[in-house]
Amino acid sequence: MSEEITKFKVTIDGITVEVAPNTTIVQAARQIGGSAVPPTMCYYSKLENSGGRCRTCLVEVSKGSDKDPRPMPKLVPSCRTTIMDGMEVKVATSEKVKNAVTGITELLLLNHPLDCPICDQAGECKLQDLVYEHGLEKTRTEFPRQTFKKEDIGKYISLNKNRCILCNRCVLVANQLTNERNHGILFRGDHAEISTYISKAIENDFSGNMIDVCPVGALTDRTARFKSRVWFTEPVNARCNCDKCGGKVVLWLKGDEIIRITARKDEYNEVEEFICNECRFERKDLKYWTIEGPAHISDHSVISLNHYELPLPKNDPHYLVNQQKAKTIE
Ligand code: SF4
Ligand code: FES
Repeated sequence: MSEEITKFKVTIDGITVEVAPNTTIVQAARQIGGSAVPPTMCYYSKLENSGGRCRTCLVEVSKGSDKDPRPMPKLVPSCRTTIMDGMEVKVATSEKVKNAVTGITELLLLNHPLDCPICDQAGECKLQDLVYEHGLEKTRTEFPRQTFKKEDIGKYISLNKNRCILCNRCVLVANQLTNERNHGILFRGDHAEISTYISKAIENDFSGNMIDVCPVGALTDRTARFKSRVWFTEPVNARCNCDKCGGKVVLWLKGDEIIRITARKDEYNEVEEFICNECRFERKDLKYWTIEGPAHISDHSVISLNHYELPLPKNDPHYLVNQQKAKTIE
């Protein structure tokens, strides 16, 4: 006899969903989609124990649960707070959340250089998106930003610690995808920095995934640096018969030239399947790849300019989901 699984109801910005116990608020919000989803600069659903560091995902819990309906006294990080049955949460509908995320964005920029015009991550940087949505027009800081020397960590990856926001995702990649972890965040508070021992973690076959999970331009691909602004390239889905990883990638093309190879990402900008370094760095020739078609680019991204996609057919299951999301955003 199959046991019935208990589901909890949670209402986010007026939309109710049923989710399994132990689901976090952000995971429930992702089931709703649209403006109900808080931004996440350190949480990464594919990496265990991520989140809890950046506070960009703060939300207001206006009702704790059916059993105890009192609101939570402070905003809570949605990536680390599990839902209770009957909980009510405000994200886009909360003025408090909006002000808090504006403050967090300002905090993340305390030491982050405003070098988007020369940063390879421009156009794909989550901090850049956050600044467009919540940033202040002027900086209020008068003191100089903290600076570090640039490092090339091996032949594939470049590390610019000035841009690092200490989200810890690359440490989790090294921890969970490679055999050894030789780096981490050293020191505390204003002195915290991603450890120089990161250079020892790059020999592994899957170390290139650190570049994909880095939300800013702190870790960039040395084999693609400065070759093109990302919005001048054409992203296509491609696959190869790789025996180390699934070989499912996005090729970023300029004519027939492969400028860059990345893993495919989902709508939350998270890698769908991690790829190996050979696919990412060594297969920069079309002879290795079978092209499957244009890669989907989120409308939110600057890269979507000049990339047109045919509307989904009405019998496609994603069509209905998109319609529902469009209503949520209205
Ligand atoms: S280098 Fe990138 S991924 Fe690593 S902690 Fe810094 S911001 Fe996060
Ligand atoms: S995404 Fe929740 S604290 Fe960073």
